[in-house]
Amino acid sequence: MSFSHGLARGRPLDAIDLDGFRAGMRAWASGVTVLTTSHEDQRAGLTATAMCSLSAEPPRLIACVNQRGPSFALMRESGHLVVNVLAEGQADIAASFANSNNLDRFAVGAWREGDYRGAPVLGAALCSFECAIAEIVHAVSHGLIIADIKTVHVSDGARPLLYAAGRFSKLEDETIDPRHSFYF
Ligand SMILES: Cc1cc2nc3c(=O)[nH]c(=O)nc-3n(C[C@H](O)[C@H](O)[C@H](O)COP(=O)(O)O)c2cc1C
Repeated sequence: MSFSHGLARGRPLDAIDLDGFRAGMRAWASGVTVLTTSHEDQRAGLTATAMCSLSAEPPRLIACVNQRGPSFALMRESGHLVVNVLAEGQADIAASFANSNNLDRFAVGAWREGDYRGAPVLGAALCSFECAIAEIVHAVSHGLIIADIKTVHVSDGARPLLYAAGRFSKLEDETIDPRHSFYF
């Protein structure tokens, strides 16, 4: 096992510096989502990679959102969100929803009202999960949103947008070994 960036065996966890945290997390490749919500006449959304499946029965996912931002505040108020999983041609949408100076993030992309509670669903997303917020675990800066999936819209044939090493990229779909296929 190797350690770097101030993280050494036996050292307290608070010795990890921000650069070390970021360098480690840049090693993590993921898909990219835009989380949206709506409440009364307002809508909000942000780009997020901190999303994962929680359970199939019941169908649940988790998203981790900064509690200081306006998107989290509106999600908490509305009690629902849509997890829009971006396709490879949607990096400009990811950039728009991560830009704190962008006044109208929804100006980029084709959006419609979702079936469940009317929160924004992105046309041509790889997949959109319309969810009810079941629980929020407050963890210092971020809220872990545990959400019940109510509706799923899946686009056949679309390919995912990826985020790794600090940039957006495409999947090079080369199976390493077909014996290692896990459809869980
Ligand atoms: C690739 C990428 C991934 C991100 N992932 C998250 C995330 O998982 N959770 C989060 O709270 N912010 C994440 N952000 C940052 C937010 O998108 C950004 O701070 C946004 O402006 C927050 O919007 P808000 O102010 O409406 O909350 C990510 C940004 C980028 C570029």
